[in-house]
Amino acid sequence: MALPMRNVLFLTVLLLLRTTCEAQLVKHRTYLQISNFMAKKLTVHCKSKDDDIGVKILAPQASFQFSFRPNFWNSTLYFCQFIWEGGSHWFDIYVQTRDQHACVKNCNWFVTKTGSGVCRLIEGEPHLVDMCFPWNDASSHH
Ligand SMILES: *[C@@H]1O[C@H](CO)[C@@H](O)[C@H](O)[C@H]1NC(C)=O
Repeated sequence: MALPMRNVLFLTVLLLLRTTCEAQLVKHRTYLQISNFMAKKLTVHCKSKDDDIGVKILAPQASFQFSFRPNFWNSTLYFCQFIWEGGSHWFDIYVQTRDQHACVKNCNWFVTKTGSGVCRLIEGEPHLVDMCFPWNDASSHH
């Protein structure tokens, strides 16, 4: 039984797609959310080397989200500046080697009540903290 050429091509493309996904040549889109748990207005500006998310102003308890595809080389890096009345800090909000196993599709972060740093939630658990981090050293701006 001869398969029509069209079908053979179609199947080949499907197979290739499956292989690239399994080999993680193309990774899941990651949705990163930042919430403000401080009682003050917070300004957040996140960027990567070639992507500027823009300036977001978060009222207390507010959050925002952006998304990206982690790269093949495991080198995706997003960093943010956090500014509020009385504070200004930087944090590397997505470091692929640090975060890609902890959050595949949803990386949910919050700025702590006291402004001491940021915490990452366990993926799929809206109330369980995975890890907390202090801000970047003042010397390591990006
Ligand atoms: C990226 O990380 C994954 C998971 O740790 C690993 O399997 C893969 O080999 C890494 N890829 C590269 C290009 O280093």
